[in-house]
Amino acid sequence: MTETPVTVTQLVNWKKTQRKITALTAYDANTARWLDQAGVDVVLVGDSLGMVALGHSTTLPVTLEEMLHHTRAVSRGLSRALLVGDMPFMSYQVSPQQALENAGRFLKEAGACAVKLEGGARVENHVRAIAEAGIPVMGHLGLTPQSVHQLGGYKVQGKKILDAKRIKSDAQKLQKAGVFSLVLEAVPSDLAREITAELDIPTIGIGAGPYCDGQILVTQDMLGMNPGGVPKFVKQFADLGTQIKNAVEAYARDVREGAFPGVEHSYHRDREPLKKVEP
Ligand code: KIV
Repeated sequence: MTETPVTVTQLVNWKKTQRKITALTAYDANTARWLDQAGVDVVLVGDSLGMVALGHSTTLPVTLEEMLHHTRAVSRGLSRALLVGDMPFMSYQVSPQQALENAGRFLKEAGACAVKLEGGARVENHVRAIAEAGIPVMGHLGLTPQSVHQLGGYKVQGKKILDAKRIKSDAQKLQKAGVFSLVLEAVPSDLAREITAELDIPTIGIGAGPYCDGQILVTQDMLGMNPGGVPKFVKQFADLGTQIKNAVEAYARDVREGAFPGVEHSYHRDREPLKKVEP
C-alpha cells in the first residue's frame, strides 16, 4: 500500500497538534528512497550538495542547473516525503522576478513541491513574489551558509541581544511574506523556542535545540559519512564512513589475494547436451 504524500498544509497543521516534523537532506535517488522508506516527512535537496557531493568548501559555487539536476534525481526516489529544492547562491537575490522565475523551475522541471531560500528582511519581497504565485517557500534564518563571508565564518547566530532581536523580527517578516515553514540554523535554543512560540508556521531546527517544531540534518553528517568531521549539533546515528572504509579494504584484499570473485560470483557456460550413444 502506498502512503499519501506529505503536504505543506499537513506540516502547518502538525505544529498545532505538536507532531514533530522529521527532515533530512538527499542528493540522489537511492538515498532518497531509503529516507522515504524510513518515513522521513521532508527531504531537502540542500545546496550543501556543494560540500557533500561536489567537493566544494562552501555552498557558493553551486549552480541552479546542478540543483535542478539533483532535485530531479531525488524526486525519482520519493513517493511520500515532501520534496524541497534549495535555491542556490545568486539564483534569487537579484530581484523578486529572478527569484520567482527560478523557483518555478524547481516545480516545473525538477518535481519539487516547495523551495527554500536564505535570509530575512532583504528577501521579503522575493518570498512574497514566489508565494503569491502559488509556490510554497521555506525560509532559512540564523546561520545562513550563503552569507558565510559576511558572517565571518560558520558561527552560532543570535547570541547577542540585538542579533536575536533581528532574527526574531526577520522571522515575523518572512511569515507575513508567506513562508510555510522556517529553518533555524545554529541559534541558541531559547531563541529558537521563543521564535517557535511566536510563529503560526512550523520551525525546523538544525543546531537550534529541542524546541523547534521539527528537525533537519545533513544525511551524510548523521550517518557518519563526513570525512571532514561534523559540527557539535550533529548526532551521529551510524558510522557508515568507517564501515565503507572497512568494506573497501576487505574488497581490495580479496581481489589482491584472488579470493574474489569466487565460483558463486562467476557465470558458467551452459552444459553441452548429452550426446546420444548409438547402439
Ligand atoms: O543546504 C542544506 O543542506 C541546508 C540544510 C542543512 C538546512 O540548508
